[in-house]
Amino acid sequence: MQKAIDAALLAPNSSNMQTWDIYWVRSPEARERLAIACMNQGAARTAQEIIVVTANGADWRPRRDAVLKEPYVQGRPDMVDYYSKLMPMIYGFQWLAPVKWIAINVAGIFRPMPREVWCWRDRRETSVKSAALACENFMLAIAAQGFDTCPMEGLDSSRVRKIIGCPRSATIVMAISVGERTERGIWGERFRLPRSQVVHEI
Ligand SMILES: Cc1cc2nc3c(=O)[nH]c(=O)nc-3n(C[C@H](O)[C@H](O)[C@H](O)COP(=O)(O)O)c2cc1C
Repeated sequence: MQKAIDAALLAPNSSNMQTWDIYWVRSPEARERLAIACMNQGAARTAQEIIVVTANGADWRPRRDAVLKEPYVQGRPDMVDYYSKLMPMIYGFQWLAPVKWIAINVAGIFRPMPREVWCWRDRRETSVKSAALACENFMLAIAAQGFDTCPMEGLDSSRVRKIIGCPRSATIVMAISVGERTERGIWGERFRLPRSQVVHEI
């Protein structure tokens, strides 16, 4: 678990802002409540271990501050600007969202502009993308050690939030159970849509 959590935290993430949190639910009492909040799914009920991954773009400031202090940033004026000026424009100033939207779309007429950086929903989406990559890193690291995982979004986020005690601003990305698979736990043959339907060569 420790190795897999370390691997999760090495996931690529947007601007290295690391707006994710991992809650490793270890107390039997909390685990029991969490399994129920995960709709009592077998994968949650029978798990040996379980984590919940959250994304919280609203908590950007302390994370940005930590990155900004790093020598690799401090040694580069362009990176200092990036974290001290651009990141607050993207993650902060939510009350200026309509102004940001207009500015981005007007500038976008003349040159390429990242469009999804103006409102709280974009901030959440960015954070969720990065947190999901952390989830995948975690699952691959568990698999590399010969164990199995089940990612779960079939859960009651309101109840899960209370159990783990995360801030209201955080989004529950998914719970991930860890253990050894049983044959009964496999739904069926692996199926994927044909490549021709989902892979597009332009
Ligand atoms: C974001 C996400 C949420 C998921 N939620 C659940 C879940 O609540 N319960 C479950 O049994 N599987 C869940 N899964 C697993 C998927 O059902 C599974 O990956 C998919 O059916 C494909 O099967 P395969 O990964 O075994 O090929 C989830 C997967 C992801 C990525």
